[in-house]
Amino acid sequence: MYLTNMEEKMLAGEEGYAVQKNMQILTALGDIFGAEKMIPVSSVQVAGVSYYNLGDAGLEYLETLAAKAARTRVKTTLNPAGMDLENWRELGIEEEFARKQERVIQAFVKMGVIPSCTCTPYLVGNEPARGDHIAWSESSAVTYANSILGAMTNREGGPSALAAAITGRTPAYGMHVEENRKPKVRVKVDTKLRGVPDFGALGYAVGKKIGPKIPLFEGIEDSPLEQLKSLCASIATYGGTALFYISDGTRADAPTETITITRTDIEAALRALNDEAAEVDFVALGCPHCTLEEIKTIADLLEGRKVTREFWICTARQTMQEAEQTGDAQRIRKAGAKFACDTCMAVAPLKGRFNVLATDSAKACYYGRGTNNFKTRIGSVEECVNAAVTGNWS
Ligand code: F3S
Repeated sequence: MYLTNMEEKMLAGEEGYAVQKNMQILTALGDIFGAEKMIPVSSVQVAGVSYYNLGDAGLEYLETLAAKAARTRVKTTLNPAGMDLENWRELGIEEEFARKQERVIQAFVKMGVIPSCTCTPYLVGNEPARGDHIAWSESSAVTYANSILGAMTNREGGPSALAAAITGRTPAYGMHVEENRKPKVRVKVDTKLRGVPDFGALGYAVGKKIGPKIPLFEGIEDSPLEQLKSLCASIATYGGTALFYISDGTRADAPTETITITRTDIEAALRALNDEAAEVDFVALGCPHCTLEEIKTIADLLEGRKVTREFWICTARQTMQEAEQTGDAQRIRKAGAKFACDTCMAVAPLKGRFNVLATDSAKACYYGRGTNNFKTRIGSVEECVNAAVTGNWS
């Protein structure tokens, strides 16, 4: 791989141990994937933040890097951690876990990483421009950045994203190469989609049918951000897709391979995501993290009611603070529901605490089942709020 003079010096250790080690990671990756050169990145988003997933080995890696003077060179934000960094006790997190999680965050902060702890960095100030090369690692955010924002990023692992932050570079392969970003399958959506669960079901259905091939959707133009972020999360989870396009049917380079998604496909996907369970004991919304608009909807639905089940609203701390300005956060708390800022139902240590998760997110179903052994019920936000109040799924 071609390296500039400056990159050669980084690799030779002239900018210190941390830069050298991270340049070694990136050049090894570039060699594996056949990159011809490095490219500068303007933004990084690092996953692998929860101590639940990192363990002591990950914590030690991060603390060593921080101690060896690793520092970020570009705007770098964090994916959700394993707990709400302020209200972890209220969410039932153990003291020992909390102390380790705090050390993880401290190591990142020492390196210059902004502890935003969200999978929707684009909602809280890390929003790249069209054509920007970036290195993000949360899969739903990667798909959102490539598909909706028009930025260019591979799905980085936690260490390779951090390496990009510390060197300001990433190897130019995959989604950074225009040639690899062409749509491969035309997906005609021949049914009216109703809200977030339907968009999650669309991602599930298409992901299962075409895997990581790049789809060109027709029939979902003008969809709101909330529905698109659900689609990004779902199609990345069930198909491994890092990029899709949305067209009104007039695109000249539409692929010839075509599939059609009908109401039958959406219903089948929703059935596949729903387990048999008449009662729920955990309700979680905000996968990906809730927008201010979603928080308002939840607050409206909870007005004058009390929840009887553990109910988490997962969101970025900044978004929750904005909801405090509007009064929606207070209305939610009054009903007994809890904000889970900085974290989510998938990366918090929840195994064994609950049996049945109700959610509006297809991705949350995947991790609820796979990571935590929950049964899952997927439905509209209204159905989820009703379940939190009554404990029943109807
Ligand atoms: Fe975000 Fe957690 Fe879902 S990181 S996309 S809320 S699984």
